[in-house]
Amino acid sequence: MIKLAGIDIGNDSIKLVVDGGQETIMVPNIVAPGYERSILQEEDSPLKGLDVMVHSPRLARSNQRYFIGQLAMENDDNVELEDMDNKALSDQSLIVALVALAYAGVSGNSHSGSSFNSTFDEVEYVIGTGLPVRTYAKFHKVFEDRLVGEHEVTFLTTPQLRNRKVKVTIRKAVISIEGAAALFHMATHENLQVKDEELYYGCIGICEMGALTTDFPVLKRMSIDNQFSTGEQMGLAMYLDYIIHDIEDTYGYRFPSRTKLVQRVKSGNYNIQRIGEGQANIKPIVDAYFTRAAQRIVDLIKKRWKKYPDIECFYVLGGGAMALKPYIQELAKTMKLRFAEDSELQNVYGYLKMAKNKVNQTS
Ligand SMILES: Nc1ncnc2c1ncn2[C@@H]1O[C@H](COP(=O)(O)OP(=O)(O)OP(=O)(O)O)[C@@H](O)[C@H]1O
Ligand SMILES: [Mg+2]
Repeated sequence: MIKLAGIDIGNDSIKLVVDGGQETIMVPNIVAPGYERSILQEEDSPLKGLDVMVHSPRLARSNQRYFIGQLAMENDDNVELEDMDNKALSDQSLIVALVALAYAGVSGNSHSGSSFNSTFDEVEYVIGTGLPVRTYAKFHKVFEDRLVGEHEVTFLTTPQLRNRKVKVTIRKAVISIEGAAALFHMATHENLQVKDEELYYGCIGICEMGALTTDFPVLKRMSIDNQFSTGEQMGLAMYLDYIIHDIEDTYGYRFPSRTKLVQRVKSGNYNIQRIGEGQANIKPIVDAYFTRAAQRIVDLIKKRWKKYPDIECFYVLGGGAMALKPYIQELAKTMKLRFAEDSELQNVYGYLKMAKNKVNQTS
């Protein structure tokens, strides 16, 4: 059976929803070289122990072993993506995406009849995914070609999935535009009928701030405006990196990855333990840089709105919106901006709907 899925291949994290599935799977886009590890205590869920081999004709180096996501987070050799990386061409992003798809393919059905005890599984997908505004025109075809085809993921020491080999076949990939897909999700019901007429038929501005890119698509009656839609090669990651450096310079404490810092910020626990018994509060440093980031976003939105006064309302989305909401609201003053719940997941829900839409059209 072919599964329908939406997958947001983010520079910070891969988000995945499978049609009819309950949960959204999120895997940090971090990879470290894998090796035979000694396990003192097995992780309590497969996603915390992604130790894999990935084989794909699309990868420059196939059949390599990797630690992925949380397992790579503490590793000294871990790699998080940089500004220069292009998601359409990035091997790292493809690796993490394939692992997420393989995991989703077997996680739900590990106890169902035939696949129980089997060490070889196959899963087939039609996926919806997306690229930033500025990458889309030039790269969507290459991106599609990289995704579509047969790939193979073998879980090695991953709890519950030990030595399981999964063939992942992507039959079709529907590529949309980041931010635009999010609006499609907000404007429609699960059955794709119009849910919000203002959003569906209006002229709407979006600011979708990710880790490395911020997209500003403008949509009119759900069609993307070619002239006014743009994107910026910057995102929250740049500011997270400044914060990490500043904390290291000030307190000699180094966060091993951006993800570790974000975990702190999300939990609201700003106290770090210094060597010896001292503690330090990093909130002032976080505030300073987040205020700068928010100012940049507010300025960019103002500029766009001035250029195109037809825009009826502006949504601020993405993980960046979650992080910066209070700072942006403070700085936006009288300019009314809209936010959404779970703003970092709006794209992935949109991608699933886009894929559904395409499948409906062709059948
Ligand atoms: N509640 C939050 N508080 C602080 N930071 C957050 C929060 N939620 C998400 N972030 C951070 O915001 C950044 C952007 O997240 P998002 O998931 O939108 O990025 P992405 O989609 O992976 O990246 P890109 O769109 O550039 O490919 C990430 O660095 C993420 O860790
Ligand atoms: Mg994103």
